Amino acid sequence: MKIIVLGSAAGGGFPQWNCNCRNCAGLRSGSLRATARTQSSIAVSKDGNDWVLINASPDILAQIRATPALQPARSRRDSGIAAVMLMDAQVDHVTGLLMLREGKTLPLYCSASVWDDLNTSLPLVPVLSHYCGVRWHALHAVDGGPAMLPVEVPGIEGIRFTPLSLTSKAPPYSPHRTHPGVGDNIGLLIEDLDKGTSVFYAPGLGAIEPHVEAALRGADCVLVDGTFWTQDEMTELGFSRKSAADMGHLPQSGAEGMIAVLDSIDARRKILIHINNTNPILDDDSPQRATLARHGIEVAFDGMEIHL
Ligand code: MLT
Ligand code: MN
Ligand code: ZN
Repeated sequence: MKIIVLGSAAGGGFPQWNCNCRNCAGLRSGSLRATARTQSSIAVSKDGNDWVLINASPDILAQIRATPALQPARSRRDSGIAAVMLMDAQVDHVTGLLMLREGKTLPLYCSASVWDDLNTSLPLVPVLSHYCGVRWHALHAVDGGPAMLPVEVPGIEGIRFTPLSLTSKAPPYSPHRTHPGVGDNIGLLIEDLDKGTSVFYAPGLGAIEPHVEAALRGADCVLVDGTFWTQDEMTELGFSRKSAADMGHLPQSGAEGMIAVLDSIDARRKILIHINNTNPILDDDSPQRATLARHGIEVAFDGMEIHL
């Protein structure tokens, strides 16, 4: 299978439009060795022609322009995007759906919780019904979760997507924020059934629950939450009153942080994704980046390709 990282940053992207933190200001002025990044999305394919878009970020049009593989040009109007799958209903993962409105009816794979949000609090589905329209394919929970039923996407034969319900956070606008449920946030085990290879993808991972640990242990490649370096990154800068945990993200540092988690598994590739613009790992010369390198952990960038 082939995976292209379309966007490796968290909500806001890097640099964020209104932000003058060390990273954002340093990237703009050229004083920092770092690379701009768009908001969180990957594309997955078996044959390199048809792709499942996982999350539709607000930067989708720029991401498509930057990724020739997503435009195979087989007919006068065409796209390599065969379907969209959503991990949650966060603004940085869903608002790009509006940009796909000129296309054909869009097959959309998401949980009932996300479908509910996109029909009510953030009504993208009713809006899109006046354009391309959306055909929902439910990601179903089994026995109340956290296990969910695997799906295969027509046109992407040979790849199985198994969602895992995660304890994380529904978006701030959602009624599910205060009433969490199965499928508010998912991780995805993506398997190439011919090759027997797998990736575990979870751009928002608040806690390492037993079923998550099992998925991390079994995967050849893990592509996981790289949002924050510390628990209080946003509060210390005065940008938010919420900790990383309040936002459903596990920071990298600390005795039980993501680095410690990744040290305990032996995946061939360990990659951080969905990186917030405040995170010091975006500075290629930072000590935090050097720490990751010592632990064999990579930092995703836009355009990164993973072949498994
Ligand atoms: C998050 O995952 O917490 C988001 O990036 C928040 C956002 O979209 O602003
Ligand atoms: Mn996000
Ligand atoms: Zn910033």
